[in-house]
Amino acid sequence: MGRCVKILFGSLSIIVALIAIGIAYLKMNDLYRQKLFARFLNKLSDPNNTAMMDIRCNQLLKHSNVKGQVLEIGSGTGINFLCLHNNTNIQSYIGIEPNIQMYSYFYDFIKQWDKIPYEIHLLNDSATDMHEVKSNSIDTVIMTLVLCSIPDPLPEKVLLEVHRILKPGGKFIFFEHTSANYEADPFIYGFQRMIEPVWAIIGDGCRFKPITNYFDAMKNVYSKVEYQHSDMPTPLFFIKDAVKGQLIK
Ligand SMILES: C[S@@+](CC[C@H](N)C(=O)[O-])C[C@H]1O[C@@H](n2cnc3c(N)ncnc32)[C@H](O)[C@@H]1O
Repeated sequence: MGRCVKILFGSLSIIVALIAIGIAYLKMNDLYRQKLFARFLNKLSDPNNTAMMDIRCNQLLKHSNVKGQVLEIGSGTGINFLCLHNNTNIQSYIGIEPNIQMYSYFYDFIKQWDKIPYEIHLLNDSATDMHEVKSNSIDTVIMTLVLCSIPDPLPEKVLLEVHRILKPGGKFIFFEHTSANYEADPFIYGFQRMIEPVWAIIGDGCRFKPITNYFDAMKNVYSKVEYQHSDMPTPLFFIKDAVKGQLIK
């Protein structure tokens, strides 16, 4: 009984706090919201989170997986450079990042390495339209924790754009949030539904979506679609569900 009251009280406190932050956020203009999200993401991007860095560097972005002309969707504050900075298989790196408030965090972060052995460019585009990137020109595309922020039906457009820019045989590696399974975790599923409107305001539009549907829809487009469920190492119980995998052109 005591435990139930604690869970109920804890959940209610999170909801009230999120609503208060959401209302304050709604009153801001877009530029300030982008600034605040960049600062928030910079605080959350913790290089000392060894469990998360293990997923990023040892499971997804191993040097043997990431090579040639590399493009990252939603490069954010540059956290994935902990895995990429000394990868000598990379010939060039393009980061697609529509929030220019991220750029100073990104460049500040990567300047800790004197010699990154390839050129780095950030493009202020959305991954839904990467017109500055030639078709069939990229060997590896990386995307971590981005798709939940792209409103429907645009994620499909992103996956088709990635297919356009990849060379034949090129690889698209991803790690993404997904919604909880209703049957396995009805409480978390319900909690996500309840807080989603506020979460989307605070979290740069991030919604709890069954993200694997987008990848399944690509089975006739890519030559290989593979993914598996993964736990996101975070103390926030309602964003623990994730998916990691790859699409091959
Ligand atoms: C939650 S952050 C993740 C950042 C980083 N990839 C990471 O793993 O920490 C989501 C990032 O995706 C970017 N983003 C949002 N919409 C995008 C779009 N349409 N195209 C490309 N990037 C986008 C955001 O600006 C933000 O930098």
